[in-house]
Amino acid sequence: MKQLSNRQILLGVTGGIAAYKSAELIRRLKDAGADVRVVMTPAAQEFITPLTLQALSGNPVHTTLLDPEAEAGMGHIELARWADLILVAPASANFMARLAGGRGDDLLTTLCLATDAPIALAPAMNQAMWRDPATQSNVALLKQRHIHLFGPAAGEQACGDVGPGRMMEAEALASLAASLFKTRDLDGLSVVITAGPTREAIDPVRYISNHSSGKMGYALAQAAADAGAQVTLISGPTNLACPERVKRMDVISAQDMLAAATDTVVAADIFIACAAVADYRPAEFITQKIKKSTDTLQLELQRNPDIVSTVANHANRPFTVGFAAETQDLEHYAKDKMRRKNLNMIIANDVSDTSIGFNADQNRVVVFWPEGRTELAEMAKSQLARQLIAMLAKHYHQYAAAALDS
Ligand code: C5P
Repeated sequence: MKQLSNRQILLGVTGGIAAYKSAELIRRLKDAGADVRVVMTPAAQEFITPLTLQALSGNPVHTTLLDPEAEAGMGHIELARWADLILVAPASANFMARLAGGRGDDLLTTLCLATDAPIALAPAMNQAMWRDPATQSNVALLKQRHIHLFGPAAGEQACGDVGPGRMMEAEALASLAASLFKTRDLDGLSVVITAGPTREAIDPVRYISNHSSGKMGYALAQAAADAGAQVTLISGPTNLACPERVKRMDVISAQDMLAAATDTVVAADIFIACAAVADYRPAEFITQKIKKSTDTLQLELQRNPDIVSTVANHANRPFTVGFAAETQDLEHYAKDKMRRKNLNMIIANDVSDTSIGFNADQNRVVVFWPEGRTELAEMAKSQLARQLIAMLAKHYHQYAAAALDS
């Protein structure tokens, strides 16, 4: 997989001559594997057409806040949630001033206010405008708000001046964008993650399974690898590509998954059980295809082993995290599961709402640990995975420090 695979980047283009370089930037981001959607300010459209950027990004270009048709497609809040990163390139002095002022007077500034994703700006302007105290004080304010500044580069400018204010080149911007997804929260740690469904064979051609897509587990694997961990992903059958720098072990049944988990878990620091393991398997595997000779057919089922509890009760247990998909009384059932399974943390989601969770690209969860809880709002699974990994790393480090003290 490439540096930006599975990353959803919202590229903001504001009005400046460097807007022509945004075309090249879209290509670089896409080459690196990102899905790119473009938002243009009215001034940007004086320099380059939405049609060009639409053709290059392969997605419709968004230009206005109050457009009922666009809102019916992907509304601005949805777009703000969709983004894993908002990259504004070029970012004009005027745009930075509006952003620093907290304005939401066009689509791009509104998206910046509404998003939970990181924001990065690639300033592009005349060197005198860049040096102006007003611009510099806006830059300082934006940095204080943890907005990333990529550049500007120095050199010859379109107006003939020489100095700082040139937009960085597309290649460098794409690699800075990729670096934003990396942290050192799990540096040097070994993380094992189960993901996807399991398949329990009935006969050579049939099986029992469920609708799990594996998306959440794969997103966690990617986020853990981006946080510096060595990741083993024990995956049931899915259609997903293995994330970059992740070792995947393919398994079919719950029993295979348990065997892979027990093999890897002794060396693991953290175990995350995200798989939707089938609770039961056919008691007996019929070696020949079952014929449809009777009107009814009885299948006897047998309970599968509980993988996460087996790991959590192992003599050398890692920091163990489970998931709980519930349709009612989320808190009660999740906490009960955490206690019964001997988990350090549990991530609970309400699957009665079918627009999130199972098989969807979005999720909303509540995280419980013995002393507390945190709710994470609905967002893209990739973004959620990063927040979960950051939270989990914090709890893991506290747990490891306490274990050293005792
Ligand atoms: O009991 P329930 O299936 O709701 O628990 C969900 C949690 O337990 C998830 O973390 C899931 O991956 C894990 N699990 C498991 N082995 C099973 C069943 C569930 O590891 N057989």
